[in-house]
Amino acid sequence: MQKLICSSCQKEFALADKRVVCECGGLLDLEQPLEDLKKLDLKKIFDDRLGSRELPDASGVWRYRELLFPSPDKGRPGGVISRFEGNTRLYHSEKISAEIGSDVFFKHEGENPSASFKDRGMTAAVTAGAGIGCRNFVCASTGNTSASLASYCSHAGLNGIVVIPEGKIAYGKLSQALAFGAKVLQVKGNFDAAMNLVNELGRKFDPDNPGESVYVLNSVNPFRIEGQKTIVLEILQQLNWEAPDWIVLPAGNLGNTSAFGKAISEAFELGLIKKKPRLAAVQATGANPFFKYFESGWKEFAAVEDPETIATAIKIGNPQSYLRARKAIEATDGVVLEASEDEILDAKATIDGAGIGCEPASACSLAGIRQLVKSGAIKKGQKVVGVLTGHLLKDPDATINYHLGKLDGIEAKKANQPVEIEASVDAFFAAIR
Ligand code: F0G
Repeated sequence: MQKLICSSCQKEFALADKRVVCECGGLLDLEQPLEDLKKLDLKKIFDDRLGSRELPDASGVWRYRELLFPSPDKGRPGGVISRFEGNTRLYHSEKISAEIGSDVFFKHEGENPSASFKDRGMTAAVTAGAGIGCRNFVCASTGNTSASLASYCSHAGLNGIVVIPEGKIAYGKLSQALAFGAKVLQVKGNFDAAMNLVNELGRKFDPDNPGESVYVLNSVNPFRIEGQKTIVLEILQQLNWEAPDWIVLPAGNLGNTSAFGKAISEAFELGLIKKKPRLAAVQATGANPFFKYFESGWKEFAAVEDPETIATAIKIGNPQSYLRARKAIEATDGVVLEASEDEILDAKATIDGAGIGCEPASACSLAGIRQLVKSGAIKKGQKVVGVLTGHLLKDPDATINYHLGKLDGIEAKKANQPVEIEASVDAFFAAIR
């Protein structure tokens, strides 16, 4: 039987228990009993679903439902609230592989319906919440979670409420949350202040009255983690279940790092892969509490008071899932890195220039890969997957200001400046020569 276990006090709860966090405030993890699953030919089951046009098989999340949880909401197509999320491409970049000297792939999670990986956790957690009778859903967000929540709630006729730091999220994301019809609450302060408010709302959840309570959809929610595991499962399926040597991802609130570790451990235990890829979680230098925790030999975790980075998605000082994420790094012989603003923007310009494109935070993956190659941790010829968590169009200001050379203190080595010309053929050829 699947159950929820508190990562702090080890108390156990049934899956249908109407709570997101433990009474002690600790985060809950969904424990997957794997013994029965070992009897199934999961690779064949997952492969057979690939051509389906119907939910739940056609969703790149629910395709892997044996490793998630039974969807409780039977009144919906396939029993799930879904936008056919996942099914994102895995690009092999010749250009970047040649630069790095390894086989570099990029998993583009910006190709999800609301343009980030958040849709994978969102389909899972909204389905779980609606299944216990909730109608009001809330999250704190640096942008992507808010757009995703807004989309899924509107799609299912539920009330979406997003709490965002005033003036501190990329415009593209604010526009999505407004357009999808969520109630947008801008709080004074940063993401961590918004998260504190949402955690308080979570503690007020009334299990006897789920329809009037608000259900928290941040990655403190264990069902979010389950949905996000499918990024790894889909990568493995796309590589024909031959595990890469490394998976490198940006890290903020640390839900994704936690989900990746859980997915890798489960896939390995189930025999879906013969070796575990090593995880590298990459933070921005100005928002690096998890990096410092790792560097201290896991001795001391301290929040960063005023996190600052151009990668607004990961501008987070007090990540909620740091203990879960530590487990993920330990279980995969992983590492935690930090990347400077210059490294992030140069990596972004490289990914963009390879015709793939991503938002600033996502470029931490390539910045991390470059560091691992330099230190010799990634060896020549190894297979590496960088996860691009969000879309190039999320933060056009950052992209344009980079190319116009308008970012203070940033050496825009790959700037591609627009050129003004007269509307004449001569001027055209003069400009392109
Ligand atoms: N990349 C992007 C594009 C993100 O939006 C986020 C998180 C992360 C990486 C970090 O993932 O938090 O699981 O470590 N964005 C959140 C949001 C916090 O509100 O959209 P994490």
